[in-house]
Amino acid sequence: MPRILILYSTTDGHTIQICNRIGRVLEDGGNTVELRDIKVEPDLQQGTFDKIVIGASIRYGKHQPVVKEFIERNQAILEAHPNALFSVNVVARKPEKNTPETNPYLQKFLKTIDWQPQHLGVFAGRIDYPSLGFFDKHMIRFILWMTKGPTDPTGTFEFTDWEKVEEFGQSIARL
Ligand SMILES: Cc1cc2nc3c(=O)[nH]c(=O)nc-3n(C[C@H](O)[C@H](O)[C@H](O)COP(=O)(O)O)c2cc1C
Repeated sequence: MPRILILYSTTDGHTIQICNRIGRVLEDGGNTVELRDIKVEPDLQQGTFDKIVIGASIRYGKHQPVVKEFIERNQAILEAHPNALFSVNVVARKPEKNTPETNPYLQKFLKTIDWQPQHLGVFAGRIDYPSLGFFDKHMIRFILWMTKGPTDPTGTFEFTDWEKVEEFGQSIARL
């Protein structure tokens, strides 16, 4: 059974939900999936995994620094496997910013690394206003107000297109 490693970087947990959905698609297709926090350095020695996927969310315009650090440290081993990278952000709810080619965060991030992932994805995330602290709640409300998104501080808004997430899972299976 092919073993697929999915590494996540998250602040509020939504990226893990997306990884879980990708994982389920892969398991249904006969793969074994391991989901790990990118912060906990996994053993990537050749032969441990057959494919590697990295999923990371955006906060205040950036992926967590640990994502770039991990990629830089492990570029050779990433390149030695079928591999993929996806980004989760709220700007991707906009149709004109929801592909790897049109999403500004993913494009900007790719310019900062040498690794060229074999497969790329972008998914719109989730805003759960009641779960956020005062500062973050008002900052993201402002960001969403600026971009004509929902600003009700009592609301939870999930923008993720789960069908698109499942299609991404299928494409990982084909790598
Ligand atoms: C405080 C805060 C700042 C955020 N900043 C951005 C941002 O600059 N651009 C963006 O597109 N999305 C932004 N987001 C949206 C997140 O990327 C989205 O909520 C995503 O689902 C978070 O994934 P996670 O739960 O895995 O961390 C922000 C969210 C919060 C709560």
